[in-house]
Amino acid sequence: MVEFIASASFGLEGIAARELRGLGMKNVGAFNGGASFSGDYTDAARANINLRCADRVRMVVGRFGARTFDQLFEGTKALPWLSLLPKDARIPVSGKCVRAQLMSVSDCQAIVKKAIVDKLRQRAAVIPETGATFPVEISIRGDEATVTLDTTGDALNRRGYRTWNGEAPLRETLAAAIVQLSDWRPGLALHDPMCGTGTIPIEAALIDQRRAPGLARSFASESWPGWTEAYAQARMEADARFNNRSFDRNDSDRQPSISGGDSDAAALDLARRHARQANLTDYVSFFNRDASEVNMPEHSGAFICNPPYGVRLGGEKEAEQAIRVLYELRKRHPGWSMTVISAHPGFERVFGARADRKPRVYNGRLECAVYTYIAH
Ligand SMILES: C[S@@+](CC[C@H](N)C(=O)[O-])C[C@H]1O[C@@H](n2cnc3c(N)ncnc32)[C@H](O)[C@@H]1O
Repeated sequence: MVEFIASASFGLEGIAARELRGLGMKNVGAFNGGASFSGDYTDAARANINLRCADRVRMVVGRFGARTFDQLFEGTKALPWLSLLPKDARIPVSGKCVRAQLMSVSDCQAIVKKAIVDKLRQRAAVIPETGATFPVEISIRGDEATVTLDTTGDALNRRGYRTWNGEAPLRETLAAAIVQLSDWRPGLALHDPMCGTGTIPIEAALIDQRRAPGLARSFASESWPGWTEAYAQARMEADARFNNRSFDRNDSDRQPSISGGDSDAAALDLARRHARQANLTDYVSFFNRDASEVNMPEHSGAFICNPPYGVRLGGEKEAEQAIRVLYELRKRHPGWSMTVISAHPGFERVFGARADRKPRVYNGRLECAVYTYIAH
């Protein structure tokens, strides 16, 4: 059993832990910045392929006390690099130091790199670094050093369907988290009335289809020794869940209505392109409409959206106008819940009602809340 860490941004750690438990991982625990679990390489491959809200999956190579550079060097050198790294491994080292005696990140990185290379020289005099990449991270918190290998490579939000970004797109991982924080459940109608480039409806459709978000991409560890079979197994399982979804659903294979609307036609072109690239053209529909004119035919459903905050796009006035439009939309749809991510500090005041739930999250550097109003 190996210890792994699924890193996740502030506010999403609990959701990442829940996802890990849902995947059957052992010893799952959430902490600031992520969730840990233990398992084998196949479990790590499962985590990379299936996690919707985490940023990356790191394998813990070792932890040890490090108050001095000597301790850092010796502690790193003592780790099992000879069994982990092939002869031609590329070994970039990144680092971070938090409230630590050893404060210089660049010195720590250089020492860790030197210790690994020193160890590998026991096997061969020259380390060519021409093969697969093994990104090492040294993280020092207080007196404790944790050395990890990044098994993911490109961060997990890179699902492969988004090739072009609109003005203020939502990260895929955060969009998937908002969907999971909402009252929407697979089978229920969902509409994002300010969908921009379509991230929320697309992530919801992937959840509805039980499609693992990482099925269409590769990961750094896929080419590591001993990992190829692990990925083959994890991909086979994820494929089976996706392909058998209609057999194990209670509500037959009825396709729910998942849609997005926006007043900006150019953003919708991108949304359609992303849906096409995610093979969801027939699963998600987009229409060019102002949210003030939206009237959904379904009796019940969930609105989920990411309106302009007034910080990045337009100004405060535009942001508040959008919030008022959402209030009216909710009033016209008593059977629908509404979930809105916003950084506007006076969101509830402008919306005119207190939210039933409002967990805090970060959208990049912006502190936001995810306001949910249950169906009334
Ligand atoms: C922050 S962006 C949404 C980004 C989106 N979540 C994505 O992943 O790309 C806000 C969007 O709200 C749209 N918008 C603002 N007011 C609107 C209104 N009254 N009706 C429809 N769309 C509106 C803007 O055109 C913009 O695309």
